[in-house]
Amino acid sequence: MRIRKAVFPVAGLGTRFLPATKASAKEILPVVDKPLVQYAVKEAIAAGAEEMVFITSHTKNSIMDHFDRDYELEATLEAKGKTELLKAVREVLPPGITCVYIRQPEAMGLGHAISCALPAVGDQDFAVILADDLIAGSFQPCLAQMQRVYQEYGTSVLAVQRVPQEETYKYGIVEVEPIGPGLSEIRGIVEKPDPDKAPSNLAVVGRYILTPRIFKILDQTKPGAGGEIQLTDAIERLMGEQTVLAYEFQGTRYDCGSKLGYLKANVEIGLQHPEIGDRFKNYLRDLTDSWGDDEDDSPKQSANG
Ligand code: G1P
Repeated sequence: MRIRKAVFPVAGLGTRFLPATKASAKEILPVVDKPLVQYAVKEAIAAGAEEMVFITSHTKNSIMDHFDRDYELEATLEAKGKTELLKAVREVLPPGITCVYIRQPEAMGLGHAISCALPAVGDQDFAVILADDLIAGSFQPCLAQMQRVYQEYGTSVLAVQRVPQEETYKYGIVEVEPIGPGLSEIRGIVEKPDPDKAPSNLAVVGRYILTPRIFKILDQTKPGAGGEIQLTDAIERLMGEQTVLAYEFQGTRYDCGSKLGYLKANVEIGLQHPEIGDRFKNYLRDLTDSWGDDEDDSPKQSANG
């Protein structure tokens, strides 16, 4: 039993990164040298998915172009003997992986975006990856960890993580009953609750394995928080019919939908980078040392302020 299809909802406006995202998709923003969406696709492939389903909008052609072959570029790199770059370009989409693009006519929320995937997904279990939640730094990519849980239990699995109580308003929050280390059955789920109303501080992050029953439920789901059709609301109904698990994954999640999270991802993934990691570390060390010097050198405050 293996998840073969992964859905990437990439139709959002990316307003938090304007003006950078005025003419191109936020999922194309690079972390060091790869766009966010490429990390997401790589993770789906590592978990065994073969068909990538992108839910896009009219401003997202750069995503389609990124995953398309560029024969002219490849021929130029080949002619110039730039084999490493040629390899990097070809690895964007490995052989045997297909991409499907579906337009979401209106930005009506995550639940609506997922419902647009029905013609490509059909009646199979499938994965959802939100590309702006970049997860790195563990023995196995997050979706592959979830796939193991799915193989054992054969049911829907959501990736969850503890967040500070004051941040519950940013996430879907679950109420759970533990069934094993890092694994629980979801008993309740609510989208973006205020901290004093949140059932816990266990937040859903952007990785889901879902059964196709969710499509029928989404069809009947009315707009919820923020006036949008929420995937969280549909999952709440799914729980009434089927077991839905919460899995506390291993790894570090960077919220690349926020500027600070995006910068942290660039710094930490930059430090691991085989080509520039060491030099970047030295640069950061010198930079932070110079802050220390600045503090020492800073003029003393005068007595009258
Ligand atoms: C979406 C989901 C939310 C989830 C979050 C994870 O919210 O609606 O339940 O916790 O992704 O990143 P968004 O961040 O798109 O507002």
